[in-house]
Amino acid sequence: MSVMSRDPSRFDVLSEGDEEQLCSIVASLEQRKYAEEEVLFTQGDGATTFALVNGGQFEIVRTDDAVQRSWALVGPGSILGEMGVLRQRPRVATVICRQPGEVLLGDRTQLVALIETPGVLDRMQLLITTRLAEDTEPVLVATRDSAFAFRPLVPRDRDAFVAGLKALSNRSLYRRFFTGGQPSDRIVDRLLALDYIDHFAWAVMSPDSGQGVAVARYNRERSDRTIAEVAFAVADELHGRGLGTAMLGALAVAARTAGITRLRAEVLTDNAAMRAVLDKVGAIWEPVEPGVVETLVDVAACDRLVDGATAAALGESVTKIFTATNLGLTSSAPSPDNSTAPHPVTRHETST
Ligand SMILES: CC(C)(COP(=O)(O)OP(=O)(O)OC[C@H]1O[C@@H](n2cnc3c(N)ncnc32)[C@H](O)[C@@H]1OP(=O)(O)O)[C@@H](O)C(=O)NCCC(=O)NCCS
Repeated sequence: MSVMSRDPSRFDVLSEGDEEQLCSIVASLEQRKYAEEEVLFTQGDGATTFALVNGGQFEIVRTDDAVQRSWALVGPGSILGEMGVLRQRPRVATVICRQPGEVLLGDRTQLVALIETPGVLDRMQLLITTRLAEDTEPVLVATRDSAFAFRPLVPRDRDAFVAGLKALSNRSLYRRFFTGGQPSDRIVDRLLALDYIDHFAWAVMSPDSGQGVAVARYNRERSDRTIAEVAFAVADELHGRGLGTAMLGALAVAARTAGITRLRAEVLTDNAAMRAVLDKVGAIWEPVEPGVVETLVDVAACDRLVDGATAAALGESVTKIFTATNLGLTSSAPSPDNSTAPHPVTRHETST
């Protein structure tokens, strides 16, 4: 193997760490070649090794109730199998080599050493948080006359998310973004750049079609980390059926788990529907600029918007995602002071 293939900067999660320290750990990993169709990890097996992919292509496949689903194809620069190793749990998926390639294999001690290298923890946490979010089972949330499946919005929702935005009426787009037309690709990138702690979003699916019908997000403020700004969008044909109200309840569960105690909403003054939703939890409105009002409501006031069992199920799924900020490697748990680095927030782009 060439020296280049052990260059830590080749691997996404190691690209910002202390180079010297990373080089010596990466040099200690075991090199292994894989042939096409050879299995790297098997779902259900104990997880003792992780892999840095140096070449080739590997497919992550998950089997549930005898149905096999392809999760992802990964190539050079990726890390595989780290979650099971860190959490000391069985493999949640099988990894099969699809194009011959080589990997660097390491054990838990080597993985912990990598993560403890300055600069690596934040990237690793974000990667694991996203993977945990992708692995979250939807929770069914009852509305006035129906029920909808709530799960975290994840990067692979991008196409459906963009299609959902395209299907919104101009009036809804204007109320959501305070400006006409579709949001740019850059804004869509930001809307999908979730870390699930400072920037979180529920994707809401129709239980019948499985189609996405709404998104509710919060974005933690930098100046006061106990406050987050919320933003909602519901497919036009479903307005007025209680979904926005249920979304506020579900968002409050996630926010509370992340140590947020108040939610801010900036709303167009004539947006009666959004104001009506927030009025249910005691909103007091203040003008902020011509045509725009804002309110700050207590997370605790949103408790009664979803029933206790649903809130517990939503809370459990969010807590599982947050475990990535407490991998047992640091003393940090998600709290207002030590959450992972926030993404840049531009008003009316991610937060309105
Ligand atoms: C705002 C929005 C998220 C609300 O979602 P929703 O699913 O319609 O919300 P709900 O059905 O739970 O509640 C809407 C409430 O507004 C009330 N409402 C609707 N239009 C109203 C009006 N013109 N005047 C007074 N109340 C009105 C409804 O009666 C309902 O109250 P109720 O539950 O007491 O009957 C949705 O309308 C939407 O996506 N709008 C476009 C985007 C947007 O405005 N986002 C908010 C900016 S952050």
